[in-house]
Amino acid sequence: MTAQRLQVESLKKDRGFSYPIVFERDFAHLSTEINSLKRKGRKICVVTDTHVAPFYLEAVKKALEEAGQTVTSYILPAGEAHKNLEEVQGIYEHLIQEHFDRKDMLAALGGGVVGDMTGFAAATYLRGIDFIQIPTTLLAQVDSSIGGKTGVDFKQYKNMVGAFHQPRLVYMNVAVLKTLPEKEFSCGIGEILKHGYIRDKEYSRWLDEHREDILNRSQDICREMIWRSCMIKKTVVENDPTEQGERAVLNMGHTIGHAVEKLKNFTMLHGECVSVGCAASAYLSMKKGYLTKEEYVHIKDQLRSFRLPVTVKGLQTKEILSATKSDKKMENGKIKFVLMDSFGHAVIDNNISDQELSEAIGTILEEEDT
Ligand SMILES: NC(=O)c1ccc[n+]([C@@H]2O[C@H](COP(=O)([O-])OP(=O)(O)OC[C@H]3O[C@@H](n4cnc5c(N)ncnc54)[C@H](O)[C@@H]3O)[C@@H](O)[C@H]2O)c1
Ligand SMILES: [Zn+2]
Repeated sequence: MTAQRLQVESLKKDRGFSYPIVFERDFAHLSTEINSLKRKGRKICVVTDTHVAPFYLEAVKKALEEAGQTVTSYILPAGEAHKNLEEVQGIYEHLIQEHFDRKDMLAALGGGVVGDMTGFAAATYLRGIDFIQIPTTLLAQVDSSIGGKTGVDFKQYKNMVGAFHQPRLVYMNVAVLKTLPEKEFSCGIGEILKHGYIRDKEYSRWLDEHREDILNRSQDICREMIWRSCMIKKTVVENDPTEQGERAVLNMGHTIGHAVEKLKNFTMLHGECVSVGCAASAYLSMKKGYLTKEEYVHIKDQLRSFRLPVTVKGLQTKEILSATKSDKKMENGKIKFVLMDSFGHAVIDNNISDQELSEAIGTILEEEDT
């Protein structure tokens, strides 16, 4: 049985500030959680998107009103294509019209796109107001709602403009996963399998054991899975809140993954690209002698068994290599590549040659049918 809540310690410069992640099966306890933030009589704006609003906006507004909040809402168009400064301006305008001041709050109700945009609006409106996260995708529950990274895309550059801004509360209602489209669910699984590879071999084994229940979205199993993934993300971000070092291990599968995502014009989901990137990273880890061939094959089989791709069609090694090298996570012109130095333990390697990288990229390319 997993605990009901986790506490995430935040930046030291925030004077020991910490926030809870609570695990629930409905929105019934949201008002109690809000009450404990001691904002009675203040305003709160629920920011959500066009897909999520019809399912959950009313229930969330009701819970917040019960907590004595004056509630407004702002609905963004759904999707990554709208994760930009223009849409954030819409949030600012709403807050100005509704006379939001420094003590009022935002609530992000949605996936990672809504969470990142709402967090960014909160970080910048009046030089920073509080916000809470109510993540509704699996990816947002295990990844984007924790750790305080917020931001938007700028032109073709993903997450290029942003701020670190920690939420005051992460309210995880696992029941919302029942309306999540299948592909979006797999997308979150990509990050979850990655958590096993970077920090916890036993978790990786547990995921295999419970594959059927996970894919059938059994609430109890999903809750335990989300809790375990949150534990891993929490531990990593607490050790390195602003990504000076260790936090970069969370980027396993993302260096090549982002390149693929961009070259495929975002037609593949993020988690799918991360899966392909993890397969490439596992290959390089094997070539370096850190993983056995069996472990490499096992990782690819595991990704596939969770309905994730390990190869892509229609791309060339050269273009992936060059897109990989233009990733913003470079340091002094070197790629910070995340490898496993053993199954379940990731390390950063700054010394991967172009030749090694090209060879790894070769293993994820599918031949086109002629
Ligand atoms: N801040 C971070 O640390 C961090 C980490 C990882 C990813 N991200 C960001 O997260 C974003 C991806 O997030 P995402 O995968 O959650 O995508 P998303 O927010 O676009 O949500 C995916 C789709 O599912 C819909 N949806 C959400 N919840 C639903 C529900 N319960 N039922 C039905 N439909 C629902 C959304 O409207 C959307 O159409 C990217 O922009 C990425 O950069 C941020
Ligand atoms: Zn990711």
